[in-house]
Amino acid sequence: MSSSEPPLAKLNHHNKSAWDELYASTKESVWGGSPVGFLAQHLPLAAALPPGAVLDAATGEGRNLPPLLALGRPVTACDASAAALAKIPASLRQRVALVESDLAELPLPSASFGFVLLCDVVETLPEPVAVLRELRRLLVPGGLLLINIPGDDDGITGIDMEPAEARGWLYRGRYYYRFYSRAEAEALLVEAGLELVQSHVTTWNEEPHPHFRPDAHTHRSLILSARRS
Ligand SMILES: C[S@@+](CC[C@H](N)C(=O)[O-])C[C@H]1O[C@@H](n2cnc3c(N)ncnc32)[C@H](O)[C@@H]1O
Repeated sequence: MSSSEPPLAKLNHHNKSAWDELYASTKESVWGGSPVGFLAQHLPLAAALPPGAVLDAATGEGRNLPPLLALGRPVTACDASAAALAKIPASLRQRVALVESDLAELPLPSASFGFVLLCDVVETLPEPVAVLRELRRLLVPGGLLLINIPGDDDGITGIDMEPAEARGWLYRGRYYYRFYSRAEAEALLVEAGLELVQSHVTTWNEEPHPHFRPDAHTHRSLILSARRS
């Protein structure tokens, strides 16, 4: 990283390092072993998807891989953090292709995925539109992106957060966060060239996350699905 790096790129660089150090700091699973609370309700039926593989974009420690594998298609899991990928349980690692990469530059072929999940990630990205454009590139025409984007009324908003240098917030001075209104969230997808299919607000509870968030909390996110037309 050079000192002349633009502020958002610098934030992205520091942010990715913070996540990697978090995963490496403990053998415990930071996000727990169960899929995120909104997934079962919003996972499309495989029959409703066009042909193509499944991508868990920024998979973390892979908590959402079991329901994705149940779709019965080849699954790829990517993350910028090598430490996160190393923590995916062996039973799941054997069944997925792993890719260590920034989400904005994925070394994966265009138009190869029928379904992409981006779970608990957009709010952590200083430059989300670049990532959404890259995910659009990977989708087959008609392919679906499922994504959650927390609003200002999410249970974690403002807790231990200070303004970041460029925009958004830093949680504990290290992890980038930004919260979006419904209009802003939908505009991100449209700016990335995706066609909005549906969006609605969902609430779910999370247990504490070891070494990251000490208290149980409630998330309130917009869940959006969008299509590459
Ligand atoms: C809050 S975690 C969510 C992990 C996982 N999707 C889940 O639901 O358990 C955010 C993840 O995004 C990854 N991440 C953040 N910025 C990234 C980037 N620019 N490229 C790739 N991964 C990134 C982090 O390493 C981290 O694993």
